[in-house]
Amino acid sequence: MNKFIVFEGVDGSGKSTQIKLLENKFVENDILFSTFREPGGNPLSEKIRDILLDKSIEISDESELMLFLASRAENTKSGILRELDKGKFVICDRYSDSTLAYQGFGKGIDKEFINSCNSYVTKGNVPAITIILDIERIESKARDNTEKDRMEDNSDIFFKDVTSGYREISNNSPDRYFLIDGTLSIDEIHQQIWNKVKMEFKL
Ligand code: ADP
Ligand code: TYD
Repeated sequence: MNKFIVFEGVDGSGKSTQIKLLENKFVENDILFSTFREPGGNPLSEKIRDILLDKSIEISDESELMLFLASRAENTKSGILRELDKGKFVICDRYSDSTLAYQGFGKGIDKEFINSCNSYVTKGNVPAITIILDIERIESKARDNTEKDRMEDNSDIFFKDVTSGYREISNNSPDRYFLIDGTLSIDEIHQQIWNKVKMEFKL
């Protein structure tokens, strides 16, 4: 089994917070790992990220999909697969399911097409476990009042579809997903994640 752990959830759901806490646990336990984020993780994907999040650029849904996929192709090939091949744990802030949830459930692009594209750009690389922080955007939005990027400017209805999309994705393959109530305290969520990771990878 690969040691690929992905975090998913709407914007502000607590992914970065929980990734930091899991990283700390890995360090304390002398476990080797690398962390990536999407879109981003290498020079090309970081440039694509800047374009995707820039509010002053108009991007069609079709181009948006292709840009997220291009970023993923590069991130997978230039970093994620290489680190997994070394036997290390790889933590990724978002991966294929972000595209399914945001562009598929959120924007209504054909999900089968997205699945095919995801398989192509990831070379079939599927996470061992995907942790979904389950929270409505209306609640996560209330946690910070910093300026919103192009994707965060999407409507409340869009984000409702994204959140319910994540729930459906997890319901369809419960063995590969760990859906956690994202409204719990930071500590409670961390404990649940650490218990799950310990059990999953027999640590
Ligand atoms: P993401 O990476 O998913 O965008 P962050 O980890 O940056 O989310 O968290 C967004 C904001 O919410 C931060 O200010 C963070 O401190 C806060 N936060 C994260 N998790 C929780 C939680 N469980 N309860 C309350 N606030 C939280
Ligand atoms: P980011 O700041 O990384 O997300 P967060 O606010 O959750 O920390 O911004 C990435 C944005 O791009 C976020 O709104 C989710 C969106 N996204 C997609 O729409 N499709 C994708 O395939 C990916 C990877 C991200």
